[in-house]
Amino acid sequence: MTDKPPVLDFATDFDHTDPEWVSDPYTIWEDLRQRCPVAHTDRYGGAWFPATHAGVSAIAKDTVNFTSRDVIVHEGRPTEEDLPSPIGVAPPITSDPPFHKVARRLILPAFSPAVVNALEPQIRALCATLLDDIIFEGVVNASMDYARLIPPSVIRQMLGFPEEDTEMFIKAVHLITENVDRPQEERIELFEPVEAYFTRQIEDHQENPRDDLTTFLLNAEIGGEKLALEHVFGTMILILVAGIDTTWSAIGAALWHLARNPEDLARLVNEPELMPVAVEEFLRYYAPVTMARLVNADMEYLGCPMKEYDWILLGFPAANRDPTVFKDADKFIIDRAENRHVAFGLGIHRCVGSNLARMELQVALEEFIKRYPRFELANEDNVTWAQGQIRGPRNLPLRILR
Ligand code: HEM
Repeated sequence: MTDKPPVLDFATDFDHTDPEWVSDPYTIWEDLRQRCPVAHTDRYGGAWFPATHAGVSAIAKDTVNFTSRDVIVHEGRPTEEDLPSPIGVAPPITSDPPFHKVARRLILPAFSPAVVNALEPQIRALCATLLDDIIFEGVVNASMDYARLIPPSVIRQMLGFPEEDTEMFIKAVHLITENVDRPQEERIELFEPVEAYFTRQIEDHQENPRDDLTTFLLNAEIGGEKLALEHVFGTMILILVAGIDTTWSAIGAALWHLARNPEDLARLVNEPELMPVAVEEFLRYYAPVTMARLVNADMEYLGCPMKEYDWILLGFPAANRDPTVFKDADKFIIDRAENRHVAFGLGIHRCVGSNLARMELQVALEEFIKRYPRFELANEDNVTWAQGQIRGPRNLPLRILR
């Protein structure tokens, strides 16, 4: 982590990597909603943070004034060279219309309900094996030894990468999503081995095609032309990044909640049919994903003097806590009847992997509570949360109760 001046006022100088924001962003967002719905900072070269559902929704749906050419706030700015328009480094998430639609349509079938449902038995078996492997001494690190290991195994298999490389993926994802406050040159250097690994995988798939998403992308065509290799590479990186930390964080946050709220845990144990509804409330209340946009040109927007290339930190998790949209927004209601949360985003970039994410979250929780129907936090002080745009517990010691 770099030495940064402390934040004095989150309305005028926010930093989403500040320890206070990392440990409890909700209090900050509530305060912002009341006195300044769009916060600003000069950090990261200039950024805005709308804290209301209306602000997040307006920007997420506005692909004219805002671009997705880069979706992770950091010190640098994209150039035409490293972000070939209209593809962007990681299509479709970094693509703008009209190319976005083409890039998105290409990968949708890989995440259809039928494909996802077929994966369920194997994810359930994986969860059971992970639970068998946890060395049980009364305390389990449910983030590192359980939640963390479920999503990479699915993504690895989808992309057709060797099993022994799973740890490598996890490190790669961290590099992209968590080291956002490091200097740009350092981030590029850290990324080099990941780039080399993906290039080797692409070459291997070119020589030995097989039934997986990497081979599919290599054979796919747009307008009768094979995809540019940068497109294949970028989509592979996107699926890796989008599919791992996100779901890991969602599973971890749900277990964290259940460890601190025994009445909710007991309800899930005694009323298993509640799980799909509970999953939606976990997603609303602990939404793990915040994405970014860049401002296309100087303008006044939501009453703010935005400048070209200012970042927008698009807080879907903050929108989910807006009391003007959700009744008792700051309360976790395990059987919340109406729940139109935006954990998976809004507008054209809405999550492609939502079926998969929901299924992984549900199965991971079901298997965990089947094995351990009673647990609590072993040490609240030892719980740590990820820094950056994906939020979830990274160290989660749970004491299993008998
Ligand atoms: C709980 C887990 C997850 C959450 C909360 C989540 C959330 C999101 C959000 C908020 C967006 C919109 C980004 C934006 O507007 O810029 C998004 C996009 C996306 N997600 Fe997820 N995601 C999750 C899991 C997954 C999984 C498992 C995959 C698949 C491997 C996935 C693949 C994608 C892709 C490909 C996009 C880009 C879609 C586009 O640009 O059209 N996500 N996700």
